[in-house]
Amino acid sequence: MKGKRILLVIGGGIAAYKILELIRRLREQEASVRAVMTRAAKEFVTPLSVASLSGNQIFDDLFSLTDETEIGHIELSRDADLVVVAPATADLLAKLAHGLADDLASTLLLATDKKILVAPAMNVRMWENPVTRRNVASLRHDGILFVGPEVGDMACGEYGAGRISEPAAILAAIEDILRGDTRVALHGGQLAGRRVVVTSGPTREPIDPLRYLGNSSSGKQGHAIAAAAARAGAEVVLVSGPVALPDPPGVATRHVTTASEMLAAVEAALPADMFVAAAAVADWRVAEVAAQKLKKGAQAPVLRLVENPDILARIAQNPGRPRLVVGFAAETENLIDNARAKLTAKGCDVIVANEVSDDVLGQDENEVTIVTRGGTETWPRMRKDHVALKLVAYLAKLLEADHAR
Ligand SMILES: Cc1cc2nc3c(=O)[nH]c(=O)nc-3n(C[C@H](O)[C@H](O)[C@H](O)COP(=O)(O)O)c2cc1C
Repeated sequence: MKGKRILLVIGGGIAAYKILELIRRLREQEASVRAVMTRAAKEFVTPLSVASLSGNQIFDDLFSLTDETEIGHIELSRDADLVVVAPATADLLAKLAHGLADDLASTLLLATDKKILVAPAMNVRMWENPVTRRNVASLRHDGILFVGPEVGDMACGEYGAGRISEPAAILAAIEDILRGDTRVALHGGQLAGRRVVVTSGPTREPIDPLRYLGNSSSGKQGHAIAAAAARAGAEVVLVSGPVALPDPPGVATRHVTTASEMLAAVEAALPADMFVAAAAVADWRVAEVAAQKLKKGAQAPVLRLVENPDILARIAQNPGRPRLVVGFAAETENLIDNARAKLTAKGCDVIVANEVSDDVLGQDENEVTIVTRGGTETWPRMRKDHVALKLVAYLAKLLEADHAR
């Protein structure tokens, strides 16, 4: 981000205060920020706050003689690497969709030759209004890039789609776009209005207060899926075993240790449209967990193991079963046969199979085969975050097709 120039258009919505945090983070990453505020935006945050945080004067007047002689609205609209509209009000989206230009913000959006990223924020009824739906569709068609909105509680007390993405998620979208990766922002929103539950990481089954049975899952793939689903507009709950990764931006993360805790957290997160079980859940736990540390003695202790709940099967058979249940199969042999058998045995819709013999756990890349009742497809080896993006797009299409039936 160092040296990148962001032209930030701040619209008049209650979420404008969150943009102060975005400006701070952009500056932290050494991007430069020029801010344009609409008249309504100034009702929500002060020009002084925006100017102080951005380190630049704010622009708000199309007919300012000083501004026009110093930089001019056309130059302002082009002297940037990216134009970001946040919060993008229903009004700004409508103006942009129809080419209206009656103030500085809308004029420069029409005049710019740079990519435009919008972060919509509005009441759920405004977002779901057919007029806004049409405007959003035509903006997407025109190549306008989107981050969010998310589903959740709104400032107005209602619940639904329309909440602005968190500053970290907007920042991630800006970084992607500046790197030349516009896939999510262009096609994103495929999961807008959906609720997705993802499990990730290993579980730990205690032996005594200090020791446990575990595995070497890093959680990289599951966390990347949760992040990708959030960026595609879903409301995401991530149930994570103990990992050394930060919580993904824009995702509600629940931290658990054992398989039983993971099952309880997943059940509590239902209902959902989609469940992706990417965690490496221990099949067994120790029947009697020692209350005190086991001491070295004449004889090595014998641990009796009992089976853990099968989270994937339990959720697939749950009365409130998500429409799409997706499991992972990490196999060391007979990958496809084992994945097919798992698909049937557990009653899920998709198995993402990967060979772990070549040390995939903990690595940054993965090669997966997607197994459904309809057949299999193997994707080339790629970074885990790219597998996540591709998988989320694939699952969003399945969900859409299922919905259309
Ligand atoms: C308290 C309050 C909160 C508002 N929040 C939003 C909002 O979140 N999103 C939105 O699209 N409009 C919101 N509005 C309406 C806009 O402020 C109004 O449409 C305004 O004309 C938008 O101007 P702009 O698009 O030029 O910034 C809100 C209005 C008020 C009074």
